[in-house]
Amino acid sequence: MKKQQSLQVTDRQDAGYFPQFSTEFLWRKTLRSIMLALMVIALPWWWMAPSANADTIDVTETEFTWSKITPSSSLQYQDCFGGFQCARLEVPMDYHRSDGQGRRVAIAITRLPAKVPVTDSRYGGAILINPGGPGGSGISQVLRIGRTLQTIVDAETDPTIVEEETSDRYFDIVGFDPRGVNNTTPGFSCFPSIFAQKNWELQTQAEGMLGSSEGSFLRSWQRSVALNTGCSSRLSTAPGTQEALGEHLNTPPVARDLLEIMERHAEWREKQGQVEQQRHDRLLGCDPQQSIVRRTAWKRGQEKLLYWGRSYGTVLGSTFATMFPDRIHRIVLDAVVDLDVYYGSGRPGGYSGVVDADAVFDRFTFYCDQAAADCPCYVGGGPSAIKKAYLAVESALYNASLPVTATSMRGPELVTWTDLKIAQRVALYQPLHTFPLLAQYVNGLAQGNASAMADAKHRLRSPSCPSLDCEGAGPWSAQCQVPSENELYASTAIFCADADRLARMNQAELKQYWYERKAESSAIGDYWASLALEWPYGGHTSHPLLLVSNTLDPVTPLRSAHKMSQIFPGSVVLQQDSEGHSTAAAPSLCVSRSIRRYFQTGELPAPGTVCAPELRPFISMVGMRDISAGDHHLWNALLEMEQIPMGVLPL
Ligand SMILES: *[C@@H]1O[C@H](CO)[C@@H](O)[C@H](O)[C@H]1NC(C)=O
Ligand SMILES: *[C@@H]1O[C@H](CO)[C@@H](O)[C@H](O)[C@H]1NC(C)=O
Ligand SMILES: *[C@@H]1O[C@H](CO)[C@@H](O)[C@H](O)[C@H]1NC(C)=O
Repeated sequence: MKKQQSLQVTDRQDAGYFPQFSTEFLWRKTLRSIMLALMVIALPWWWMAPSANADTIDVTETEFTWSKITPSSSLQYQDCFGGFQCARLEVPMDYHRSDGQGRRVAIAITRLPAKVPVTDSRYGGAILINPGGPGGSGISQVLRIGRTLQTIVDAETDPTIVEEETSDRYFDIVGFDPRGVNNTTPGFSCFPSIFAQKNWELQTQAEGMLGSSEGSFLRSWQRSVALNTGCSSRLSTAPGTQEALGEHLNTPPVARDLLEIMERHAEWREKQGQVEQQRHDRLLGCDPQQSIVRRTAWKRGQEKLLYWGRSYGTVLGSTFATMFPDRIHRIVLDAVVDLDVYYGSGRPGGYSGVVDADAVFDRFTFYCDQAAADCPCYVGGGPSAIKKAYLAVESALYNASLPVTATSMRGPELVTWTDLKIAQRVALYQPLHTFPLLAQYVNGLAQGNASAMADAKHRLRSPSCPSLDCEGAGPWSAQCQVPSENELYASTAIFCADADRLARMNQAELKQYWYERKAESSAIGDYWASLALEWPYGGHTSHPLLLVSNTLDPVTPLRSAHKMSQIFPGSVVLQQDSEGHSTAAAPSLCVSRSIRRYFQTGELPAPGTVCAPELRPFISMVGMRDISAGDHHLWNALLEMEQIPMGVLPL
């Protein structure tokens, strides 16, 4: 655990408007479906992400650097990050290129090893994960919550207790950085240096998001033109030369990368099996069955995927299932995105991901009313009175930002409407932890006291000075870049590549689209915009998919899960009866047990199953009646995971 925490510190999103949860909050991947052009404008919302505690910093654990690994076309894992293994897998940038030439991509991969050796008969395989985004780092995900995911999917029995003939299975958890993201190379940057990027982001926040003022649309448009034309040129190459990264970081090639990772993992497993068999035969006499070799054998071109994707990760999973329907062993789609909405967003009409966002916000007022005195912004008169009071604060802030005097810890600040909208949006993603904080902020604002929000804003900034190395190497050099700061821009690039309709929208079309989203959600409609690409999805898969969604989710509504279930025959929707984004928003033993059973045996829950969560916002335990000894371990793991903020990306 210590290791995991130390890693969080290297992640810049940490710090947030919600400091109480800062130690482990992850805010990763949540909001995504829609915001391309707009997303970049909306950039400051990632400043919401809560901060890591200084005392979790442990520099010695992070000595490993990716550049020490030479990329190879087979998997060569080496130890990294204390208890993990890392590899860089080389794949063609363009899979359609048949001459074997051309640019290569080196995919960064981190494996949390299973609790049994890969050669053990109880080894269940490698579960590939994706945290969402698009543009989320699977490396970061496995480092932060890999152990929790493993606790969920692994058999309950302690693997050191060896039983004969058990059907218990134990899994590797494998995260990877998709093309264009974090440690996967080549990377790209829209800025000549991290210093220039930070300056841009400060201005973006200061100017306010779309909807923050009369002039906000035009200014946001202009800023996105300035940013995106530069980004696009960094992602393209001159005609007739090499492949352009910008044309090969969309989702279908990443689905193909998944296939490659799992085949290469099997190749690696086979090698381990041969070594282990020899060792076994030498020590214990020759095994005529050669059973280790047999069970670890690489079924070339026939290996099947084990996968757990969240949010945008469900786009990747269902894209894979469409492209390679006979290569599926287990797929869990968590917070299901409707592929039509994702690839087709920007099309006039139709619903977008945010249709349920305002209903999630209504639950804020509902729970606040229930909690009464325990809710800082409670007023008598029921949920509608609380909502009215909240909106009055919001409208006052729109008309006039609140000045906050300097303290010994920070300079003067202005707290703006944009800041409150960002706080609101983050709260909708992870209500359990952040509704109470939002209530606290609003209560302060109602009294003209924005100091808590000003402190949070300040904590979230991570200014950067031009380094000597960067000055020596010159603008655009690797020395001037910080790959892990590129998340939002990678997200936009992937989104645009997937749904080029968005990229092609003109100002008037975008405005229309913006109005439609606002009509769907006044809470976060301002943030949302999307894309287009049309090909048929779905189909019969070699094993049915398990789809999991919350009753109310601000960006991946339950209806999307039901719609996707229709196009994948045999799949089942498991409903978690809570608010927020993905199963990470609230712990549910019932959901976790279903996911475990699915990975262990392939069995799906009965259609129509609804799982109650154990926790609700403002109110602690609602249903911790009969927790068994076995579930205790699982419960602790869930609690730990759900305190991790989700990250900065929309989906
Ligand atoms: C904000 O300004 C609008 C337009 O002048 C006004 O109608 C509204 O009452 C103001 N809101 C607050 C809370 O002052
Ligand atoms: C403003 O709120 C902060 C906590 O959020 C509190 O410490 C401070 O005393 C408040 N200031 C005033 C003038 O009430
Ligand atoms: C990028 O990867 C590193 C590990 O190499 C990880 O610590 C960091 O959190 C990742 N960055 C992001 C933004 O996820």
